[in-house]
Amino acid sequence: MSPQERRAEEPAGEIALLAAALAARLDRRRRRGTRRRPEASRPEGAGDPGAEGARPDGNGRKRAENAQETPENGQEQADFDTEAIRGRAAACPDLETLRSEVAACRACGLCETRTQTVFMDGPERARVMFVGEAPGADEDRRGVPFVGRAGQLLTDIITKGMGLERSSVVIANVLKCRPPSNRDPSRREKELCTPWLERQIELVDPEILIPLGRHASGHLLGSEASMGAMRARVHDLAGRRVVPTYHPAFLLRSPERKRDCWQDIQLAMAELDLGGDR
Ligand code: URA
Repeated sequence: MSPQERRAEEPAGEIALLAAALAARLDRRRRRGTRRRPEASRPEGAGDPGAEGARPDGNGRKRAENAQETPENGQEQADFDTEAIRGRAAACPDLETLRSEVAACRACGLCETRTQTVFMDGPERARVMFVGEAPGADEDRRGVPFVGRAGQLLTDIITKGMGLERSSVVIANVLKCRPPSNRDPSRREKELCTPWLERQIELVDPEILIPLGRHASGHLLGSEASMGAMRARVHDLAGRRVVPTYHPAFLLRSPERKRDCWQDIQLAMAELDLGGDR
C-alpha cells in the first residue's frame, strides 16, 4: 500500500489533511489581515453552504433580501470549504474512492434535492474526457451523465463522428449533482465541486479534455469568453490539451452549429492522431 493510500485509510490522515487546509486558510487570513466574526454574531445562514441566502453566486436568482454577508467573509468560507474538499479529494488514491467521497458530499444545497450524485461514465483511464455542465433530470434518475436527448447526440458524436466506442471515453460534469429545474449552476456550487473534478481529471489522466458548452469550457479555462471565441483551437491547461466545443443540448436547438462542432471534434482527433483535420 502506498503512503498516500495508507493516509487515506487512516482517520489520522484525514485529520492531517483537514489541519493542512485550516492552516492554509489561517495563513491566507493572516496575510490579508482580516478577522472573522465570532459564530454567534454571524447572520443566520451565512457560511452555510446549503442556505440560499449565503450563496455569493452572483446569478441574482436566489439571494435573500436580508443577506448581510460581505463578499470578503463569504469568500473566506468558500475558500475554507473548497480547501477541505480539495484535501479529501487529494487523499483519494483511485476513482472508486473518489466516487464514494462524492456520493457522500454535502458541501452545498444540491445534496438536498439530488436523487443521487452523477460521477462519470467510462473507464478508469482514457485518452479523451468530455466534461459537461451538470446532470439533468434523466442523469439524476439514472446516476450516469449524458443519458437524455443531449446524451444521445453526444453518443453519436463519439461513435459515428469519432469512430470510438462510448465506453472507451470518459464523460463527466463540472457539477456532480443536478441543479433543481435545470437552472444554471451557481459560482459557489462550481467552486465547491471543482476539487472533485480536478482530482477526477488527474486520475483519468486524459490526453485531451473536451468541455461541452460555454459553462464547462469557461470554467475549465478560467475564461469569460464566448463559446465562439473559445472553440476551434487547442488550449493548454497545465500541460493538458483542451478542445472546447458546443454543448449537445445547444446543438439540438441550433443544428446549424453541428458543422462547427464537427470541426472541433476533427481538431481533437487530429491531436490524438486519430485522423481529422487540424
Ligand atoms: N447536460 C450536461 O451538461 N450534463 C449531463 O450529464 C446531461 C446534460
